[in-house]
Amino acid sequence: MAFEFQNILANHIPETSRVTPARKGKYDFAVAYPDPVSLPHTEILECLKEALEESGSELAVYPHPQGNTPLRQYIAEKIGRDRDINVSEDEIILGNGSGQPIDMICAVLLNPGDIAITDSFVYGGTLNTLRRHFADIRGVDSDEKGMDPEKLDAVIGEAIKSGRKPKFVYLIATFQNPQGWTIPEDRRKELLAVTQKHGVPILEDDCYADNRYDGDLPTSMANLDDTNSVMYVGSFSKTIAPGMSLGYMTAPKLILDRAMGVKSGRVSEFTAMAVEKYARKYLDSHIEEINSIQRTKRDAMLASLGENFGTSAEWSNPDGGLYIWVKLKEGSDIVALNERSVSEIDVGFHPGTNYSPTGKTGQDHIRLCYGYNEPEDITEGISRLANFLHKEGVLDS
Ligand SMILES: Cc1ncc(COP(=O)(O)O)c(C=O)c1O
Repeated sequence: MAFEFQNILANHIPETSRVTPARKGKYDFAVAYPDPVSLPHTEILECLKEALEESGSELAVYPHPQGNTPLRQYIAEKIGRDRDINVSEDEIILGNGSGQPIDMICAVLLNPGDIAITDSFVYGGTLNTLRRHFADIRGVDSDEKGMDPEKLDAVIGEAIKSGRKPKFVYLIATFQNPQGWTIPEDRRKELLAVTQKHGVPILEDDCYADNRYDGDLPTSMANLDDTNSVMYVGSFSKTIAPGMSLGYMTAPKLILDRAMGVKSGRVSEFTAMAVEKYARKYLDSHIEEINSIQRTKRDAMLASLGENFGTSAEWSNPDGGLYIWVKLKEGSDIVALNERSVSEIDVGFHPGTNYSPTGKTGQDHIRLCYGYNEPEDITEGISRLANFLHKEGVLDS
């Protein structure tokens, strides 16, 4: 008889509420892949070779507990230059992507049942991490400028009144996943005024800051805060590749110290060596190249939505990032159509419920990622999706 692991699962281990079809569609607008064609294998290989020739024998020893020092130096320089965050390499901890630092920050701050605030639709990976730490997640609505400060004030105020001050507010202030907006500087200041008034810190997830196609890039929340209340995470997943699995955090010293206490696993020194060399030599020009490619893809998807989705849906018009957030007819239920979309028309997308703190809102929203397919396939995939949704009565003809 097969062993029943079900009987020994830890108490309250959350079931995943994410909806992901079993196979990838040819027109894959579901998962957040960047452009696969421009992936710089040749340059990465060249940099790996150089790094190993220079310092390969260092792989014989365990790396610095905070991760490869030259890469931490590079990150400190980069976020100083691009995000106005002035820290030294001692204040940077590398992670296996930015997901690991987010998990470490949750481990440091959250007791089971603690309140954490997010947008009312937000990156599902962080929602899953918050759930794993048994957070009580409170979503705050946004408009086209991002999280609404008055609503945030009300949600924090209500939590405090009930004797449970929120532990932090998680914000993807730039090119939000999935909603696509970027919080302008004035709104960032208003949000900080609210969090500072209540004494609640912010976890700023800035992993899309480099993926800008239009408009100005507002300075980081971390820079605008003068009370040392912002913890900051970033990643190379959206600029080099998710497969490199490299991200980082910086935060006030106490959080960094405690994060080192809860960190489990090491960050690959092998990868970090190659990425440091690659980043210094090529990353800026690579970012320019991929942004030009992603701009074309975004424009192809927006044009195809305009041609095929008619007036019964609304969608975001992002200046950067990888996603378009589509609101379908009120009351539509897209979750049931997700699997069939892949099997019948080869089009993958994510239902809005994947981004909902409760998993119960967003049935009438879809997130479309335009990073992976070529523009012609994006146009074809959106047209197929529109026909499918028309037939299912989700879009008006
Ligand atoms: C907002 C946000 N944060 C973090 C991540 C995770 O990135 P990483 O691959 O660096 O763990 C993602 C990935 O899609 C994301 O969208």
